[in-house]
Amino acid sequence: MANDLLKGKRGIIFGALNSQSIAWKVAQRAHEEGATFVLTNAPIAMRMGEIKNLAEETGSEIIPADATSVEDLENLVTKSMEILGGKIDFVLHSIGMSPNVRKGKHYTENDYRYYGQTMDVSAISFHKTLATLYKHDAMSEWGSVLALSYIAAQRIFPDYNDMADAKSLLESIARSFGYHYGIKNKVRVNTISQSPTVTTAGQGIKGFKEFINFSEQMSPLGNASAVACANYCLSMFSDFTKYVTMQNLFHDGGFSNTGVTQPVIEQFGDE
Ligand SMILES: NC(=O)c1ccc[n+]([C@@H]2O[C@H](COP(=O)([O-])OP(=O)(O)OC[C@H]3O[C@@H](n4cnc5c(N)ncnc54)[C@H](O)[C@@H]3O)[C@@H](O)[C@H]2O)c1
Repeated sequence: MANDLLKGKRGIIFGALNSQSIAWKVAQRAHEEGATFVLTNAPIAMRMGEIKNLAEETGSEIIPADATSVEDLENLVTKSMEILGGKIDFVLHSIGMSPNVRKGKHYTENDYRYYGQTMDVSAISFHKTLATLYKHDAMSEWGSVLALSYIAAQRIFPDYNDMADAKSLLESIARSFGYHYGIKNKVRVNTISQSPTVTTAGQGIKGFKEFINFSEQMSPLGNASAVACANYCLSMFSDFTKYVTMQNLFHDGGFSNTGVTQPVIEQFGDE
């Protein structure tokens, strides 16, 4: 279903690795809604990547950028404006990676070099992206910048490990930068806190399958899918949400406000 919701809008979409990626769905839906955009991912993800298929499907160009490199981000931002023919209306930061999770390091025994990399890739890259856009005056007035988060920023989910700390920082950056960018030229900055979703990054978390089932039963509406998340992102890029900024927005079927549900409590009966 297309409604030209993003007709004429220009964007940058980070993080489409494969067809499961949330960013992939955002790109497909943004294309259907009339947006033009540049796709970007880490150079290493391009080498193993299927992103070319997505670029063909959506008529987009690809600019590789390691989101931890300010130099790469400068190149991305300036080239995107050239390619798209003007300032940027929306940016999706859909990036997460923890070497501690990958190497199975317990939270209490995290490797601090890895810990620093988790913060840089998963959170500080958002600051770097915003700072680069800000410096180059690259965003249109009322433009919208989004990053994807998870409720482990507020509550402990043990296997989420140091990604929880990264998400807390990510959400804080959205608040702080949202203030400055709002004042400077009415640019909105938010995070969307998404249900657990089957993707490459999601499946990296230990016990993910059990966890996704638990979350499904703990959410009155059930887990939100990647496509549903994409649609929410589009609404945040549209002109219908102009005064929403500096927020962490839960897109989780009600999980975040649920103490317990009947199907879950029934699993703790006597018989
Ligand atoms: N899948 C879930 O359960 C879930 C839930 C809530 C939030 N999120 C968040 O959604 C976002 C997207 O993840 P996804 O689930 O679609 O998984 P994904 O694995 O498809 O996407 C993660 C992306 O990050 C990119 N990336 C890693 N290091 C990078 C770097 N240095 N520079 C640029 N890009 C880099 C990867 O190449 C990949 O495209 C992440 O922020 C993730 O934490 C995911």
